[in-house]
Amino acid sequence: MGAVIVLLGLPSCADRRDAATEPAQSGQASSSATLAPAIGPDFPLQTWMKGTAARTLASGTPEALVAVFERIERIDPPGYDGWKAIASQGAAAARASNVDGCRVACKACHDQYRQRYRDTDRRRPLR
Ligand code: HEC
Repeated sequence: MGAVIVLLGLPSCADRRDAATEPAQSGQASSSATLAPAIGPDFPLQTWMKGTAARTLASGTPEALVAVFERIERIDPPGYDGWKAIASQGAAAARASNVDGCRVACKACHDQYRQRYRDTDRRRPLR
């Protein structure tokens, strides 16, 4: 199971619940992999978050983080009133080269909206 542990090295704003989805990415059959769906085209935002937002935060490049938060601002799903404001705060932090401030914005949105999005909007196409 060493390979699974290695994959858990996500940025701090990916909380512990994310661990449940990690074994699926390792390509190994494990009992926990059947408990949570794998990432893929069925869950467009999750796929983008993992592939682009998390990687960009890990790289710590402020210019790239500006683009990430601007992209999240454009997603702005109907009914998520604070979504755009949180993304704008992240973009402002990125423009100020404040990577810790970016993390705060990642976490603020996850705390407020991630569970609801998963429960109700996960299959929305990105716009
Ligand atoms: C304004 C809202 C918002 C912001 C800002 C945001 N996210 Fe997300 N993120 C979400 C939502 C909603 C999901 C759930 C998507 C799903 O699971 O279908 C998510 C999911 C994720 C996941 C997937 C976790 C998993 O295992 O499924 C990662 C990783 C992630 N975000 C990283 C980041 C990082 C890094 C940042 C900051 C650079 C960030 N996010 C900023 C809303 C946001």
